[in-house]
Amino acid sequence: MKKIKNKIEGFSKLSKEDKIAWINNTYFHKNFNSLDSLAQYWNNNKELQKIHDEFSENTISNFIFPLGIAPNFLIDGEDFTIPMAIEESSVVAAACKAAKYWRERGGFKTKIIDFKKTGQVHFIFNGDKEKLNYFFIKNKKILLDECKKISHNMVERGGGILDIKLVDKTKDLKNYFQLNATFDTVDSMGANFINSCLEQFAETFKKEALLFNSFSNEEKNIEIIMSILSNYVPDCLVRAEVSCPIDDLESEINPKQFAEKFYQAIVIAKTQRERAVTHNKGIMNGVDSVVIATGNDFRAIEAGIHSYASKNGKYTSLSDVSIDNGIFKFWIELPISLGTVGGITSLHPLVKWCLKLLKNPTGKDLMKIVAVAGLAQNFGAISSLITSGIQKGHMKMHLINILNSFKSTDDEKKQLINHFKSNLVSYNAVEKELLNLRNNGL
Ligand code: MEV
Repeated sequence: MKKIKNKIEGFSKLSKEDKIAWINNTYFHKNFNSLDSLAQYWNNNKELQKIHDEFSENTISNFIFPLGIAPNFLIDGEDFTIPMAIEESSVVAAACKAAKYWRERGGFKTKIIDFKKTGQVHFIFNGDKEKLNYFFIKNKKILLDECKKISHNMVERGGGILDIKLVDKTKDLKNYFQLNATFDTVDSMGANFINSCLEQFAETFKKEALLFNSFSNEEKNIEIIMSILSNYVPDCLVRAEVSCPIDDLESEINPKQFAEKFYQAIVIAKTQRERAVTHNKGIMNGVDSVVIATGNDFRAIEAGIHSYASKNGKYTSLSDVSIDNGIFKFWIELPISLGTVGGITSLHPLVKWCLKLLKNPTGKDLMKIVAVAGLAQNFGAISSLITSGIQKGHMKMHLINILNSFKSTDDEKKQLINHFKSNLVSYNAVEKELLNLRNNGL
């Protein structure tokens, strides 16, 4: 192994320029000016740049994602244009296509199934379970009361702590118990709120245990392991659905065959893990891009959704389909905890813009929109997979990236996009045609 010799102390206290200089000296060749690569993304508006710098630690530049928009979504009878922050070339195009398709067939219908989030205080109690239970019941009100200073504002906004329960987990770990709390965080994702409440519960619980006379000295000494929200939110659930008579399923193949192949594709995703993961990845193309555009924590949502996909012990499809009495129905249920207030939602100018475009949705509204984006994406992917395949569309969209990698001029792009309307796109084919064009003209 190489010797480690570049340890630096106090890095976070250096100026941005000094941080970059250190990186240049430590990692890059003298002739490579990495400052240029980084500085080209700095915003000229110093105030705006400062906001971005302060979102995180050791920031040296901005990492820019394309922001696309997908119009024509009809959701519960209302029009939406959905913002999507994503680098993958065909995702926005697929969303636009699915939006238009379902718009002509009644649009997307959605429903909030439940709206609760949870968090746990994980602790060790070495003693009599009955006594612990009695202690919890006696102190439940104090636990909630001592949290009022934290939950006051959330209660004013219509949410707060919904319940707190003692859970015996000693089967999983010796002397292990939980305080399992449920929350309604209204329009905020609520991570800070939930974690603050949990830490307060832990403090109160430990303090009151020391004063509880029925406990032995050992029992009084409750050991808090940790207090943290759960990103598994199966009770913060939204459903999105589309349906139409089978005969209306227009595509490159006949409607009956389309419905049948679509149904089979979903059964394959429901039963085969290899397929389920890719199937769900396509759904997350839609979900993540809206979650990112609206300033939400896509890691939390990814973790929650994927664990939900294996809630019955086997990883399976997040979407489902039925064909009954000539009606094709396709739906998805997703656990999504997100916010339209708090976090960076009021700080990041583009996030604010995206939320405005979505008509300043409530948390529940945004859950619906995100679920629709996921379902639309899944419909687009399956429709392509069971008809023409995805490579035709993908490579058409990818063509621009390939042309850019060869530094093509606008004129070259125009001519080659035209050429590849009727020819198969591949990296080699594009390179060949471009060389041909550059040497001879098409
Ligand atoms: C690619 O990003 C997503 C797909 O692979 C999804 C799927 O296979 O369903 C096309």
